[in-house]
Amino acid sequence: MKLAVIGLGHTGLVVAAVLAEIGHQVHGFDIESGKRSRISRGHSPFYEPDLDSLIARGLATGRLVISRTLDEAQADAEVVFLAVGTPAANGDAPNLAEFWSAAGQVVPLLLPHAVLAIKSTLPVGTTDELIARFKAQWPDAPPVVNVPEFLRQGTAVADFLRPERVIFGSHSPAALNVMRVVYEPFKLSSETIHECRPVEAELIKHAANCFLAARISYANELANLCGRLGADYEIVRHGLAADSRIGSSFLNAGLGFGGSCFPKDLAALIKTARDAGSPFTLLEATLAANRAQVHRVVALADEMVGGLSGRKVLQLGLTYKAGTDDTRGSRALELAFLLIREGAELTCHDPAYIPTEVGSDQLFTIADDPVSAASRMDLVLIATDWPEFIDLPWSKIVGSMRSARLLDGRNLLDPTEMTAAGFTYRGIGR
Ligand SMILES: NC(=O)c1ccc[n+]([C@@H]2O[C@H](COP(=O)([O-])OP(=O)(O)OC[C@H]3O[C@@H](n4cnc5c(N)ncnc54)[C@H](O)[C@@H]3O)[C@@H](O)[C@H]2O)c1
Repeated sequence: MKLAVIGLGHTGLVVAAVLAEIGHQVHGFDIESGKRSRISRGHSPFYEPDLDSLIARGLATGRLVISRTLDEAQADAEVVFLAVGTPAANGDAPNLAEFWSAAGQVVPLLLPHAVLAIKSTLPVGTTDELIARFKAQWPDAPPVVNVPEFLRQGTAVADFLRPERVIFGSHSPAALNVMRVVYEPFKLSSETIHECRPVEAELIKHAANCFLAARISYANELANLCGRLGADYEIVRHGLAADSRIGSSFLNAGLGFGGSCFPKDLAALIKTARDAGSPFTLLEATLAANRAQVHRVVALADEMVGGLSGRKVLQLGLTYKAGTDDTRGSRALELAFLLIREGAELTCHDPAYIPTEVGSDQLFTIADDPVSAASRMDLVLIATDWPEFIDLPWSKIVGSMRSARLLDGRNLLDPTEMTAAGFTYRGIGR
């Protein structure tokens, strides 16, 4: 089929490259010319495993084309995927300016009977609002499907190639038929595809992220309690996860959840619930617990070194999680700024960090080599769960530090081994 993908960011580029890989003819367009030219040369503008090879293959076969204009991208598209950003806006509902602007450009260019498939995460009710707005302007407005995306950065290609479930939210039976054909090459079982109305599709997306976020806040507050009671959270976690009703995912304790989705989707559903007169108090507590968690880690660091002011701290990790160079909503980056505010002299190392935050690289030193950077430090603090940190030569690091203190903000390391190596070790709830 002939498809277009508008917005080639962390979601749209994966969608475009995978849809080309499974055999569709895909035209991609992004408003940023720098991104378009980088992708046209076969490179993703951001780090995502396996994506470069997929882009290169798509370009080589001609099934993936990066268009220079929106008109060119949509010229003969039967389905147009809209995957522009809906970024967080000051702790409340997401900012939809980018979305409404893109939708306003895309809809008038759609071919008659082409389907508009929305991949951007929209606050509940927005797809119906879009349908109503466009019906008022264009009597022949296109059928719209809300197809929320569940890929995870770091495993995005595999997630999109092998989805656990696909949600099609539409009022149009014809559009649902078209979407089934688009997804046919994935060879999904009939139980994998869920068809519903847009409002339900939007709710499923938010409910999933909010549920996972609630588990993380639960884990963090339980870990904090373990710390107070002298229990080891990791032992408690294993016992908890052994219950098949609970399972092991999203129970890691740490600095709290970040990234470009969880905090924003949580804030959006809280607002939706409040506006609907059905407050979601569990989610309000989830958000409050998350905001507090990074401050608890700062307090722990302060306690370990007897006051952070003037202390030399090496922070390992700045991205919001391992496997990505994304720092949007990163609790690790927030931690870095809080440590500086407390007067720490901060050096940071991250395997993938690209200094994009305004002024961040002027506030702290970036070290390429974490081992030499640890020399003369008062504290090493793990802030992102990069597996690389597990294999660092800790016995070498311990000897070079001014005082061998290790705060494991992601519970990555074995406390017994670290203590035997000579560290004063603290984790989250251990
Ligand atoms: N990142 C994730 O892991 C993830 C997962 C699921 C859903 N989502 C949702 O997908 C949407 C996109 O998120 P993202 O992380 O890919 O954002 P992003 O910022 O990485 O990408 C958005 C892209 O859209 C482009 N764009 C903006 N306006 C445009 C226009 N008018 N025409 C063409 N391109 C335009 C931007 O230049 C940017 O490259 C969001 O709603 C997000 O909530 C993201």
